[in-house]
Amino acid sequence: MVTLQSYPGNGLNVIMRDSLVSARRAAALSIVILAAASSRAGSQQAALQKTGDDEIDRRVAAVMPQVITWRRDFHEHPELGNHEVRTAKIVADYLRSLGLEVREGVAKTGVVGVLRGGKPGGVVALRADMDALPVTEQVDLPFKSKVRTTFAGQDVGVMHACGHDAHTAMLMGAATVLAGMRAQIPGTVKFIFQPAEEGPPPGERGGARVMIEEGALENPAPSAIFGLHVWPEEPGKLSFKPGAAMSMADGLTIIVKGKQTHGAQPWKGVDPVVVSAEIITALQTITARQTDITLAPAVVTVATINGGVRGNIIPDSVVMTGTVRTFDKAMREDVHMRITRTAELIARASGATATVDFGAASGSSPVFNDPALLARMTPTITRVALGKVNPNAVWMPSEDYALYQEKVPGLFLFLGINKPGVKADDAAANHSPLFFVNEDALPVGVKALAGLAFDYLSGGAK
Ligand code: NI
Repeated sequence: MVTLQSYPGNGLNVIMRDSLVSARRAAALSIVILAAASSRAGSQQAALQKTGDDEIDRRVAAVMPQVITWRRDFHEHPELGNHEVRTAKIVADYLRSLGLEVREGVAKTGVVGVLRGGKPGGVVALRADMDALPVTEQVDLPFKSKVRTTFAGQDVGVMHACGHDAHTAMLMGAATVLAGMRAQIPGTVKFIFQPAEEGPPPGERGGARVMIEEGALENPAPSAIFGLHVWPEEPGKLSFKPGAAMSMADGLTIIVKGKQTHGAQPWKGVDPVVVSAEIITALQTITARQTDITLAPAVVTVATINGGVRGNIIPDSVVMTGTVRTFDKAMREDVHMRITRTAELIARASGATATVDFGAASGSSPVFNDPALLARMTPTITRVALGKVNPNAVWMPSEDYALYQEKVPGLFLFLGINKPGVKADDAAANHSPLFFVNEDALPVGVKALAGLAFDYLSGGAK
């Protein structure tokens, strides 16, 4: 995903993270209330869940050294999207050693594992992503990445600068925990290890879209899916929100065509550089002056501008690329229309032309947390995070996890991984060469994945 900015929530999280004790009490109380208010079957269900939760905590503690070892190994050996060959083999071999049914080569390097519990029940899916980024690591770690590659014609480092190493290791940890509890699990857990979340290499397909096309959500079909992402926040805090929680990402390419001329005689041509400058400035008024941002956030970014080869030659054309981020489909259509109108009409006013393209990704949904599912699973989330939760977190980056949620109700959580005492705004963002994962926060992620799957199935998959 591409990092822009986070919106820490307000109000509710202050109350909810106030005290560990009150959160534990609340979790215990909710179990008590649930048990008291429901039928005998219901109370048996709650008891099963409570016993399972205690066991999950014990098993997570036991598997953590292995999770850290996996994470450091993946960190030292990062692989770009659609090239996660080594990572996928480690995952597949390990899942097989746990006795899971394993499918490899899904969407090139994806791995899907199926754990059938000892009791009848529904099906739930857990998802992690495995790919790294063309970023040269600047964090001084014993397991720092020294891997280099050629990307878009440039020699660059490869780094797990978005924490997908931690996601893969945490999901392997959750698989260990749940496989150890197989006899108690009422239903089936599907583990989806996905390649190329950051996007496939140019000219290739990949990621969640191809995982789904190649059957990741079939045989058996889950009725819910859970996933999480590390982000620079208080360590061990889980953040989420009902509804649209991460943006839809659309590409933006604008080609301005003018008429080439000598740099000393601009009137003999049409200068596409000046026209492009006017377009860039005007595009910012779409979000600042034309869009009701009280409904949802929106961002228009022009990140590259290329034209010309020499200071005294006005070029024929200029190419700009950028990104458009929105949370609401109608707002997206409106912002796209305004971008196109602004670019075309400014170009026309100068005798140039502009063509606007939003790329192939256009048309996907935002990461959307099913409100009913979130309400049902909030006690689990609050319990595993020891009350450190933010139930009002919006994040501008996007995630192809949204594609699974188009098919199956799902939740996507953010796990805080800062060093203690480092504020959210002071930490290196995802995709930075300085991105850092505090491993002390990872047990919360493993507990969340295992706990959500177990509690969901124990509560009767719907
Ligand atoms: Ni990411």
